[in-house]
Amino acid sequence: MRASNKLKTSLAVSAALSLIAVTGCSANQPSGSTQGGTNKLEITSWWTSGSEAEALNVLIDGVKKTSTGLSVDNAAVSGGGGANARQALAARLQAGSPPDAWQLHPAGQLKTYVDGGQVADLTQLWKDNNWASQLPQDVAEAQQVDGKYYTVPIGVHRGNVLWTNPAVLSKAGVTIDPAGSVDDLIAGLKKVEATGTTPVCLGDKDIFASAELLESIIMSRVGADNWKKLFTNGYSFDAPEVKQALEDYKTILSLSNKDHSAITWDEAVKKMADGTCAVSLMGDWAYGELVNAKKTPGTDFAWVTFPGKEDIFSYVGDGFSIPAKNIPHADAANAWLKTLMDPKVQTEFAAKKGSIPAVTTADISSLSDYQKEASASFAKAAVVSSLAHGQVTTGEFAQTYADAVSTFNGSGNVAAFTASMTQAQKTQL
Ligand code: GAL
Repeated sequence: MRASNKLKTSLAVSAALSLIAVTGCSANQPSGSTQGGTNKLEITSWWTSGSEAEALNVLIDGVKKTSTGLSVDNAAVSGGGGANARQALAARLQAGSPPDAWQLHPAGQLKTYVDGGQVADLTQLWKDNNWASQLPQDVAEAQQVDGKYYTVPIGVHRGNVLWTNPAVLSKAGVTIDPAGSVDDLIAGLKKVEATGTTPVCLGDKDIFASAELLESIIMSRVGADNWKKLFTNGYSFDAPEVKQALEDYKTILSLSNKDHSAITWDEAVKKMADGTCAVSLMGDWAYGELVNAKKTPGTDFAWVTFPGKEDIFSYVGDGFSIPAKNIPHADAANAWLKTLMDPKVQTEFAAKKGSIPAVTTADISSLSDYQKEASASFAKAAVVSSLAHGQVTTGEFAQTYADAVSTFNGSGNVAAFTASMTQAQKTQL
């Protein structure tokens, strides 16, 4: 490593550690106090919004029930979508001081940690508990890299949901048909604009929000099969349908609140439910957040899958892994992973989070109508993985996409966007 890189790394490490100390809202102990103790557990995640924090507490309470006297240090780092949390985690891994377990997405994002030798092989734990048989095949497969299990799933989110304000839409005489086209959606949004209300609420202070909006449009324009082929080099980011999606995205951005880069995803969906605008595209953690903010489903807000000819389910998985090296509290980490796979814990977590349980043995009869619909759809729709959440391919490629979206938000330059993405297809797949 060159000297300047070393310096950068050590600055990043100390910046990230102090970030954790500031933002880590410890359930019991100040951050870092777990070191050396035996009956302790430190976990990191990016679950800090109202609903996310409550859902995380379900897991913390769950593990405490199975491990008497355990104290849990909740070292969550704020920032929707997790970019800040992952940066802080990278610094800790580099410094050789990992937490006992950390939140991550399966498949592509997981592979990056596996390739770096950072996550423990959990195959034996999976076998001992017969977990694969309790999961849909595609969920179980997403937890593997080269046939070995390295992570444990807590839930399944859908990324491509358009949350709507029924009163605002009805005032403009607009109905959004999930089986309609992106053109129909844009025509409806323009009708909302004509009534004097901002059509779209967007909160992309954390870039994942606009990255998720753009990917939903691309999925809709190209279809599930071509979406998958974008990551196996069977289809190009230079295709006319992708360019059309970028033009659609520009139009939708122009119909969004001007302060979108200053507000967060949860602020944006709450503004939509308050009637500030008609729609907001967000993964279905928005459902948990809206209910947590005492908004009534069906009245204050409703939902449609992002419009398109095909019923596409953009899968965003949540789970936890544990470090391959230097684990501070191995037994507690093991108990944590087992807690995640408890069907009752998965249902209780989903009730707060807006997700559906990953395990098929979980009882979803107490969950909301939205979640029952999501569960039925996960079984029959065309399931694809999200790029905005780094699941469909490697972390490196997802970072290139996030950077390209940031640049595109400022420049609107379609050729520059497709050039960086086709270049990434050549060099990063
Ligand atoms: C996603 C994660 C969700 C939710 C969201 C917003 O990456 O899968 O659980 O937390 O970020 O922070």
